[in-house]
Amino acid sequence: MTLHRILVLGGTGFIGRSIIARLAAQGVRVSAPTRRLARARALMPLPTVDVVETDIHNDANLAALIKNQDAVINLVGILHSRGGNPYGADFARAHVELPRRVVAACEAAGVTRLIHMSALSSDGPAPLPSMYLRSKADGEQAVMGSALNWTILRPSVVFGPDDRFLNLFATLQRFAPMMPLARARTRFQPIHVEDVAQAFINTLERRETFRRGYELAGPRVYTLRELVRLSGQRAGCARPIIEIPDMAGRLQAMILEALPGPTLMSLDNFDSMARDNVASGPIAPELGIDPIAIEDASVDPVAVRQQRLDQSRGFARR
Ligand SMILES: NC(=O)c1ccc[n+]([C@@H]2O[C@H](COP(=O)([O-])OP(=O)(O)OC[C@H]3O[C@@H](n4cnc5c(N)ncnc54)[C@H](OP(=O)(O)O)[C@@H]3O)[C@@H](O)[C@H]2O)c1
Repeated sequence: MTLHRILVLGGTGFIGRSIIARLAAQGVRVSAPTRRLARARALMPLPTVDVVETDIHNDANLAALIKNQDAVINLVGILHSRGGNPYGADFARAHVELPRRVVAACEAAGVTRLIHMSALSSDGPAPLPSMYLRSKADGEQAVMGSALNWTILRPSVVFGPDDRFLNLFATLQRFAPMMPLARARTRFQPIHVEDVAQAFINTLERRETFRRGYELAGPRVYTLRELVRLSGQRAGCARPIIEIPDMAGRLQAMILEALPGPTLMSLDNFDSMARDNVASGPIAPELGIDPIAIEDASVDPVAVRQQRLDQSRGFARR
């Protein structure tokens, strides 16, 4: 790799950890800022990775992080926000203002290579159905309007041992006697986290990916109903799935959003599912990946998660 120093914003998350592990394996010096050091525990043993606790929404901090980097990867993203039109303040800050500020800081520092993480369907026809997608679309505009050598990657749902999507449905089925499911026919094309990470690595140095956006999707299309059944089967707790109308689904999402503790699902997540989350064509050859399907993943993500939960309960009892 000719890029020796890379800043990964959002690198402590589910996808970022896989990307950074691959960069570190190639000896790349990685800077990984976080709001809380505890979030970066998995990255700390990696010898070429510098974890920094800092506020990347502060321009001086961002400029200091970007200075002397060969490339920047921006993965920062959130799933929930306060309400607003066209999107709430949290989405505006993380998905739109931050990319604008990253672009400005890269331009000021002379860092020309930027890979920006968006989401499948955010470049779809208006009106986009959710605040999440609308804010992702405006973040893309900020990147595309720059003079940088940007690449935008837009994955469908990403699966892996720590994913939020399949694991959420497995968890719900563990505790509920049945699965009332709205938008059961919405289609998804899940992609494995390691395929996403490899696409980022391959893209970094490929000039043909400069100033282009790419969809990232797996080899198979599933309805939401099929994915829920699959996650239940893999967790050993498949429940009967009862399709419910949209109105009841909205109510269900509102209740889940209002529950105390971390938000499992929001009304905005429900709105995102008004559209299929499926790629418009085969994966672009220049991304250099041949994605695997959920059934073909050598490690079953739901089983791994369950094993970890069981282990931590075992420790807690000792
Ligand atoms: N996972 C999927 O299925 C999927 C599908 C399509 C697109 N994407 C996109 O891929 C990206 C990564 O997703 P992920 O699943 O890896 O997310 P994740 O596990 O939730 O990680 C999010 C990352 O963003 C950082 N972050 C979150 N809010 C922030 C804020 N307000 N200010 C600064 N940093 C913030 C977090 O850093 P700290 O908490 O350490 O500060 C963390 O490193 C996101 O942009 C997401 O929209 C994901």
